[in-house]
Amino acid sequence: MLYEKFGLVNTRDMFADAIAHRYAIGAFNFYNMETLIAVTSAARETNSPVILAVSESALQYMGDDMLMSMIAGLRLSPNEQIALHLDHGHSFESCTHAIDIGFSSVMIDASALSFRENIALSARVAKYAHTRGVAVEAELGAIDGHEDENTTSSRKVFTDPNDVYEFVAQTNIDSLAIAIGTSHGAYKRRSDSEQLRFDILGEIAHILPRFPLVLHGASSIPEILVKTINQNGGDISAARGIPTDQLRQAVLMGICKINVDSDSRLAFTAGVRLEMSENPCGFNPREYLGLGTSAVYENAIDEITNIMNSANRLH
Ligand code: G3H
Ligand code: 13P
Ligand code: ZN
Repeated sequence: MLYEKFGLVNTRDMFADAIAHRYAIGAFNFYNMETLIAVTSAARETNSPVILAVSESALQYMGDDMLMSMIAGLRLSPNEQIALHLDHGHSFESCTHAIDIGFSSVMIDASALSFRENIALSARVAKYAHTRGVAVEAELGAIDGHEDENTTSSRKVFTDPNDVYEFVAQTNIDSLAIAIGTSHGAYKRRSDSEQLRFDILGEIAHILPRFPLVLHGASSIPEILVKTINQNGGDISAARGIPTDQLRQAVLMGICKINVDSDSRLAFTAGVRLEMSENPCGFNPREYLGLGTSAVYENAIDEITNIMNSANRLH
């Protein structure tokens, strides 16, 4: 398998262990050397499996050669249980491209298509991926996104439990992203009383026992990061995430992969803003980028330990 050359693993064994012991694997998005090092170092420090997630736009930003050179530079061992995952691949070509350059896991996000078209495209990706040892995630339902505080009321389409058995059987995918009320970005909820749809999760977990279920849009938006940004020149006061107790509850009910991007973005921004306001005369990028990197690292350690519960799982 191509990804083995980089010391990467696919997600199958890590999901099987997570399901057996009721914890989750954190899938942390990264987009440059700093965020890659921060997440990998956090996994190493906590002795935890982790998924390094790259969106299509992040892949475009880094470039294939630069990304895979950085992955090679990590000198990973398969014992570390680290997967490289394409997040929200929107086409067959996008997924096969990632597989052909060394990714060990891909997501085909055909959730905007009809049920039948979603099945057809996801099955086609799974067939290509499986002959190369790569794991595939697909999505049913819509996990929408909020770019700013004014769009928090946008439409939510929850996954219909009646669809999941047929979808998984016909696509042969390895994991399923479901929509139970999470959304991408930093503006997820209007009030603290909003609950995830645990009834839907319960039904899906009952229909697909021990099948890997995935939660996107699952950043908790730590208050301390929002406060640090706002106190140092930022303005994201309405940011609100998924409460950590609800995330832990979802894990206990069968979620075995939790996607986090916004929390890392906030942490990086908080670190950089703090350093810049405390040191207005400074202009050495290594100083403020270093503070951003440390903040992403600390946040990933906290979430691996207190949300994923995946620390010290490597045997
Ligand atoms: O789920 C989506 C991720 O947050 C990726 O966002 O395309 O801006 O990298 P991006
Ligand atoms: P957040 O925006 O909640 O971090 O979600 C990230 C995600 O789902 C990436 O696929
Ligand atoms: Zn997502």
